[in-house]
Amino acid sequence: MSANTITSAVATAALPEIDTPLLAVALAQGTDVPASLAALDKAAGGLVARAITSGDFKGKRDETSLLYPPAGKPQRILLVGVGKASEVTRNAMRRAAAVAARRARALGATRFHFAVATEARNAVSASDLGQVVVEGAGQGAWAFTELKRTNEDAKPDVEAVTIVVAAAEAKETEAGRRIGDAVAAGHRLARYLQVQPGNVCTPSYLADQARQLAQRHGFGITVLDRAAMKAEGMGALLAVAQGTQEEPRFIVLEYQGAGVADAAPIALIGKGITFDSGGISIKPAQSMEDMKYDMSGAAAVLGAFEVLGALRPKANVVGLIPATENLPSGTAVKPGDVVKSHLGKTIEIINTDAEGRLILCDALSYARRFKPAAVIDAATLTGAVVVALGHVAIGEMGNDDALLAEVREAGERAGERCWPLPLWDEYRELLKSDIADVKNSGGRGAGSIAGGWFLREFVDGFAWVHLDIAGTAYTENEAPHQPKGPTAVGVRLFSEFILKRAAA
Ligand code: BES
Ligand code: MN
Ligand code: ZN
Repeated sequence: MSANTITSAVATAALPEIDTPLLAVALAQGTDVPASLAALDKAAGGLVARAITSGDFKGKRDETSLLYPPAGKPQRILLVGVGKASEVTRNAMRRAAAVAARRARALGATRFHFAVATEARNAVSASDLGQVVVEGAGQGAWAFTELKRTNEDAKPDVEAVTIVVAAAEAKETEAGRRIGDAVAAGHRLARYLQVQPGNVCTPSYLADQARQLAQRHGFGITVLDRAAMKAEGMGALLAVAQGTQEEPRFIVLEYQGAGVADAAPIALIGKGITFDSGGISIKPAQSMEDMKYDMSGAAAVLGAFEVLGALRPKANVVGLIPATENLPSGTAVKPGDVVKSHLGKTIEIINTDAEGRLILCDALSYARRFKPAAVIDAATLTGAVVVALGHVAIGEMGNDDALLAEVREAGERAGERCWPLPLWDEYRELLKSDIADVKNSGGRGAGSIAGGWFLREFVDGFAWVHLDIAGTAYTENEAPHQPKGPTAVGVRLFSEFILKRAAA
């Protein structure tokens, strides 16, 4: 078992009977002890009531209170706030589970139980609860210590979470738990790939990981090397790749679960820049190390395929990952160079740091051969999306209102929220080139939209959504529900999207 794997289970025991190092209980804002916790409070000698009635624990989101019941069974009780009961959603439950798991790790508890005061459930279904508690536990307990030889503050991994529910809900909770378990595995894979340094996670490393995934789950896989890309005519991807010694890869994964081999697939495209220095238009040194995360879109696609392999939903899905480094060198592409894309359009490269769109445009063009029912790309595309939406929302653009809404709803369920940016005709002007069909950078204003519009120029004959995840793929600070670093954003959104379509 690899690190950070969390085994999950559903139990129906009465709360005071549970023998566990940590019993986390989610409860809503309020000044009274919830009736559903009366027995636990009594067994704990009234500690729960004291935490609440003293006003010390108010039940606000992310708020916690750690109690040590004298009887020692459970050894510890962690009250976790979820905010107003009437506003509780599955996202609030996922977050509470993540807060609990993070605390479990800090306490050195290798397993914990998670229960919800009935009063705080607010119609979150048993199946949703089973799913999101496992997702949240995986998210909160995550840590990456593989590359530390000495680690003074090393903590044991959290290895198990048990969801405690009423007997009548056990079966439904178990069904959700199974989904959550798969999604958590996808999440874990994506984060693992994201966090790897650029000298480990190269394009060929990503291709090897995709091959292993394909072998494990029986997916089809094709990997193009530089020569094969040349034969394909992927001039834009190759232009980015020409500055580095590191071999580029174009990865194609195929999952067939629809039962009908020729049912139109969903295509997922992930930006796989394993390090973005900016190229000749080089970036400032400040935080440049974070540009190892420029393959987060690729990680999201691979994570989603891990989920597909475990759950095998009734859908056909294609994953496309253009992967290369973006480095300056004597052979690197230069500002002003014009290249011919896979689609045939010529591109004037104004800024070599706008490389993501160059590799994605060839993937979008390649996607045509699958006659996809829908195409969604995830890319750490622009710093401008951080200016527009901060680290809270994914920037969403596309050419099809129904698909935009469908993706946005998947993001809501996933707790990976999207916010639309307009691809109005007026913005297309930004990309007019004097000497080529388009240019790759539109100047100062509307940076994320210019990126979206550039991609749209290469979308030919299918419904498409672009997700700019530059603000959400990794965090620079820790949060109550999440350690600092990679977030695996996109894995849950992709999974929700596909599972819903497969069920329809
Ligand atoms: N990978 C960057 C975008 C990015 C910025 C990701 C910050 C994560 C955090 C992308 O390749 C890039 O450099 N975009 C340029 C585009 C510009 C030159 C048109 C940018 O945002 O400055
Ligand atoms: Mn760049
Ligand atoms: Zn980039």
